[in-house]
Amino acid sequence: MSAASVPLTGLEFPQISAATRTLQERAHALIPGGAHTYAKGDDQYPIVAPPFIARGRGCHVWDLDGNRFIEYGMGLRAVGLGHAFPAVIEAVSRELGNGTNFVRPSPIEVAAAEEFLRCVPGLDMVKFAKNGSDATTAGVKLARAFTGRDLVAICADHPFFSTDDWFIGTTPMSAGIPAAIQGLTRKFRYNDAASLERLFQEHPGQIACVVLEAETSIAPQPGFLPAVRRLCDQHGALLMLDEMITGFRWDVGGAQKVHGLRPDLASFGKAIANGFSLGALAGRRDVMELGGLRHDKPRVFLLSTTHGAETHALAAAIATMQIYRREPVIETMYRQGERLRAGVNAAIARHAVEGCVEVMGRPCNLVFATRDPNRQPSQPYRTLFMQELIRRGVLAPSFVVSYSHSDDDIDRTIEAVDGALETYRRALSDGVEPYLVGRPVKPVFRTHN
Ligand SMILES: Cc1ncc(COP(=O)(O)O)c(C=O)c1O
Repeated sequence: MSAASVPLTGLEFPQISAATRTLQERAHALIPGGAHTYAKGDDQYPIVAPPFIARGRGCHVWDLDGNRFIEYGMGLRAVGLGHAFPAVIEAVSRELGNGTNFVRPSPIEVAAAEEFLRCVPGLDMVKFAKNGSDATTAGVKLARAFTGRDLVAICADHPFFSTDDWFIGTTPMSAGIPAAIQGLTRKFRYNDAASLERLFQEHPGQIACVVLEAETSIAPQPGFLPAVRRLCDQHGALLMLDEMITGFRWDVGGAQKVHGLRPDLASFGKAIANGFSLGALAGRRDVMELGGLRHDKPRVFLLSTTHGAETHALAAAIATMQIYRREPVIETMYRQGERLRAGVNAAIARHAVEGCVEVMGRPCNLVFATRDPNRQPSQPYRTLFMQELIRRGVLAPSFVVSYSHSDDDIDRTIEAVDGALETYRRALSDGVEPYLVGRPVKPVFRTHN
């Protein structure tokens, strides 16, 4: 469907110049997928989306052609405070002047560990990495070494744990991963303790750890998380919480604090350094210490990379964590998310699209579902919703807010949603095709392009 055939709404799409389109082409010629992160890729966005972002400030971003957008889910939820947040930038700039990487540790490594363990009490030790996947994978390795077992139980309803084979092998994109590796990861269902119990019964004495997020857009039913803890204890497995999204968003102390859950290991990343590259594996001293020098057991090679303790990323993390502790970051994200949810729900009711568009999750981490007239999840309708938001200056793969989303940003977003839903309503009656500019988006995890 060409742009010319789209019913007029009186609103133009942001102009994308020929030079930007040429760069987009060049990106695909040089980089598989055209981007270094799948979730940012062209197939994830409508074709009217800005192909590149040139700069950001707070929750606003500008594309290469000068179009400005209110952005949601910034940096795949890594930029919790806001783009170019001044206090973080100042801390990083100060540290850069001292050099970034030496042959021996920098004292900032200790300071960052202290600050982290202050934020997330109940964890004894922490080791930093450059991303969350490495941290989570290191947790799996530690659990295997600690328990002497090979199998890993992961929650089937949680979309992502790591870029490594033990997890990607369980997705439809498992090409290149040996079946032997795939067979070591087993799945249970969220809010279904019996499914985890069955796994333990089917594989007695073989499951090293249970990996899950404490909560996603689905909240835990009463008793579920305590049952997971109890089953792990009963069967001698470690409980590892993935706090990549929930950490520094649900609470400064993560979802474990909100739910009063005591994990053996927990992995963090994303918002911890406001967009600078940092992940963290933290946990019980007796488990974590296997990666250290103070034991006589077999040594575990735990998270040791050349860039692991890059000093300016640690400076970013310290500044970020201090801001989270001192300022109402979490409260603001909840408040703005709640305001957004209320406005979007009112617009959904006004356009009578209940059941087809739905806002879900905690206010600090809202996502939306887009469904077709038969109430089935629909990528074409997702594309249409995102397309119509882009037309109105909102770039929103989710409704995940940051500390920088102001009342005005939220109000403008609600207005944009209102306009987008008018088109959505018409598409539900007429079919989505006449309204869609270009091909629909596709999920990352698929077997073929
Ligand atoms: C829940 C969850 N765990 C782990 C990861 C992996 O983190 P990273 O991309 O920093 O490796 C992600 C990334 O999106 C995630 O959402």
